[in-house]
Amino acid sequence: MKNLFNFLFLSLILWVAGCRQAESDQVQSPDKQLTLQVGATEGRLYYQVLRNGQPVIRPSYLGFVLSDSDLSEDLEISGIRHSSFSESWDQVWGEDLTVDNTYNEMRVEVCQKEGLQRRFDVVFRLFNDGFGFRYEFPGQEHLGDFVILDELTEFHLAGDHRSWSIPYDTEFYEGLYRQMPVSSLDTVCTPLTMQTADGLYLTLHEANLTDYAALNVHPDAAEPTRLRTYLTPWSTGEKVVVTTTRVTPWRTLIVAENPGDLLLSRLMLNLNEPCRIEDTSWIQPGRYIGIWWGMHMKDYTWEMGPKHGATTANTKRYMDFAARHGFSGVLVEGWNLGWETWKDFSFTQSYPDFDIAEVTRYGEEVGVKLIGHHETGGGISNYESQMEEAFAYYHQHGVNAVKTGYVGGILEGRERHSSQFGVRHYRKVIEAAARYQIMIDNHEPVMPTGLQRTWPNLMTQEGVRGQEWDAWSRDGGNPPEHTTIIPFTRGLAGPMDFTPVTFNFTNKALPDTRVQTTIAKQLALFVILYSPLQMASDMIENYEGRPEFEFITVCPVNWEKTVVPEAAIGEYVTIARKDRESDNWFVGSITNSDPREMNLDLSFLDKGRKYKARIFRDGEGADWKTNPYPVTIEEREVTSEDTLTIPQASSGGTAIILTMYD
Ligand code: NOJ
Repeated sequence: MKNLFNFLFLSLILWVAGCRQAESDQVQSPDKQLTLQVGATEGRLYYQVLRNGQPVIRPSYLGFVLSDSDLSEDLEISGIRHSSFSESWDQVWGEDLTVDNTYNEMRVEVCQKEGLQRRFDVVFRLFNDGFGFRYEFPGQEHLGDFVILDELTEFHLAGDHRSWSIPYDTEFYEGLYRQMPVSSLDTVCTPLTMQTADGLYLTLHEANLTDYAALNVHPDAAEPTRLRTYLTPWSTGEKVVVTTTRVTPWRTLIVAENPGDLLLSRLMLNLNEPCRIEDTSWIQPGRYIGIWWGMHMKDYTWEMGPKHGATTANTKRYMDFAARHGFSGVLVEGWNLGWETWKDFSFTQSYPDFDIAEVTRYGEEVGVKLIGHHETGGGISNYESQMEEAFAYYHQHGVNAVKTGYVGGILEGRERHSSQFGVRHYRKVIEAAARYQIMIDNHEPVMPTGLQRTWPNLMTQEGVRGQEWDAWSRDGGNPPEHTTIIPFTRGLAGPMDFTPVTFNFTNKALPDTRVQTTIAKQLALFVILYSPLQMASDMIENYEGRPEFEFITVCPVNWEKTVVPEAAIGEYVTIARKDRESDNWFVGSITNSDPREMNLDLSFLDKGRKYKARIFRDGEGADWKTNPYPVTIEEREVTSEDTLTIPQASSGGTAIILTMYD
């Protein structure tokens, strides 16, 4: 009798809370290669993923620790709903024009069996190129605002994969990616790229990081192929304070058969929201130069003085050069007050030798935009108190792009860049900039997660060990393999403002530090490292009289289509991209310190058409260490039937313009 009473009572509670225990269930990718299964066992929720029957993710637990309770135990599945979706959408700018977004979805409703009977959903989406899932917290009586102390999401890998990553605490994400087995990892940032023993390529990351903390992962101490989540904390140790946004970012895994396909996955973009900017006509990708490398090489200073770079006269000189050579913008750093102390910057008051009205008037005359600059030094309150006025000021002067910067180990003296605090700030900036029709190039950012789909004024970001390290890094500069790794790691998070194309490798300030490539590789990086605002970083004097500079003056930055004919992570990569405005293709191909032969199969070209291939390749005797400068420029007639075989030097490369002429 007592048992019957207990049963009825329990049933009543479950009914009131809407909980009905469900069986485990599964969802497949549209091509049926990937299968994701979900279930609850002994009160714990788990998922696992198979590819053609083989495990990719072994059973992995899901859930949270909240400040007032545990949300990982005593769980059961109360309902499961399936749906499918297919659309294609056009990118305002990007590596392709049209993106296919086709997936099968499984929404799993989860409920605590007892106690407060809190509820959450886990939404899984399976695409042909991988999967994503996120948690959603529906409105409910016992879950108002809450604090996440830990997200317990796991990724239990099917093996001890070879992997490429940087440590979680790499300052500004500006590290060299290390190759090591997953079991040897410390806590690392995502993207984390892996190669399995049977030749699959996986990239673990996240999409749509909104009002939450960035994802990092670390191996479980007892079972090191089981990766656990570590969210970047607030200074209080709390991870996320959930108030308005009731969904987490998507946890994503790209699953590819070769490294080139990692580069073609648009999973992250598909898991972001559609564009929220109605009129996008002011969002204009372009090539730019800047009063910039001169400061890094100590020829100029940011602050005013005898070597001040950001003067009216110098800016006009750069604008003249830009106009002559097909650049749409000139970045000017060090024009505003505050550089002596790197704090309390003013974003509207200029040094007396920089006249913004005159410079922007002149820019309009010659058809070149000033690209603005806001270095905050990590002083968030100082910046936020001036931000509206600062964007309005630039807008009044016709400036439509601003580079922002957050140099300073910690924001506001307290919080990490990748914490929820940082994430909230960066979003505020993107949204404010959009109101003033300003594009953003964000340096020292939080790792990108595809927000440019929603806010296409977020053009490009740093968060990568860029070319500037070849100016001032005491370890000698970026090693030859660096740029053959970052397309497959940081590059999968979104555009990189790496700022390639240095032409003068002499470093007066630090003679042992230099660009560790040939010149032809510098050209190729303009295609390889995608950025819709793409910088040619050197001082303009160093481009004068160099015939190979031609490639940079015509290479587009907005593409209709991208293909990856050759790729091996850390060794070499060849990328071909079709211009949005013409029938022409542009190719970049690079190698690490091993010389090689590029074998470029041109079958991506239109069948039955003829193309002129204008080739910029490593010249006779080129070698990054001993002889980096020779470049040979030659022309050949080619069709889609041809393969171009071209030798590449140690840390060399090839850049090609394929012009359709018949
Ligand atoms: C570091 C940035 O990466 C660089 O581009 C900029 O010039 C300096 N900070 C100053 O803002």
